[in-house]
Amino acid sequence: MWKVKLSKIHGTGVFATENIKQNTKIIEYIGEKITKAEGDKRSALRIKNYLDSEQTGSVYIFELNKRYDIDGSFLYNKARYINHSCNPNCEVDIINNEIWISSIKSIKKGAELSYDYGYVFDKDDYRDHDCKCRAKKCIGYIVSQDDWEKFYKWEKKIAEKIKKNKNIKKNNVKKK
Ligand SMILES: C[S@@+](CC[C@H](N)C(=O)[O-])C[C@H]1O[C@@H](n2cnc3c(N)ncnc32)[C@H](O)[C@@H]1O
Ligand SMILES: [Zn+2]
Repeated sequence: MWKVKLSKIHGTGVFATENIKQNTKIIEYIGEKITKAEGDKRSALRIKNYLDSEQTGSVYIFELNKRYDIDGSFLYNKARYINHSCNPNCEVDIINNEIWISSIKSIKKGAELSYDYGYVFDKDDYRDHDCKCRAKKCIGYIVSQDDWEKFYKWEKKIAEKIKKNKNIKKNNVKKK
């Protein structure tokens, strides 16, 4: 149903090898079950070491439930290669304590599988995660669609601040 190959979004991706119907369980995200504290520690370390890497991703820790994460950074976990998109064709479902990637629309043979990574908008670090998903509605950063409103509000605020500063400078020059 799927295969792993080079992606135009980032590094390696996962692609459909046949047409896939909406609501199909496609691939399980497998790895080591670890506590949340350990997950946070490993996430921070990988982000520090691999944030700008073109070869490998920096984030493979997945929340299983309130107490446990899955570290899916191991090579046997092929779902680790699925990239983020601002217009995804898959989603992540927790089914019977397993993490599954399922289609949310029909997917054509050859299309890259993607899901919304669900990164919470944080004004201090959203710029660390550029998005290169190539979707028409891509917002340029990997931010959960649930937080797009917060993102747009923040960007608007910044743009207004820049405009205001430019006007102040312009007025000061005129006075001189
Ligand atoms: C789980 S990995 C995905 C697989 C990755 N392409 C690889 O080759 O290992 C997650 C990482 O892939 C990269 N990535 C995923 N989606 C991306 C996107 N839409 N734009 C830019 N980089 C992306 C980021 O570096 C992210 O930390
Ligand atoms: Zn995008």
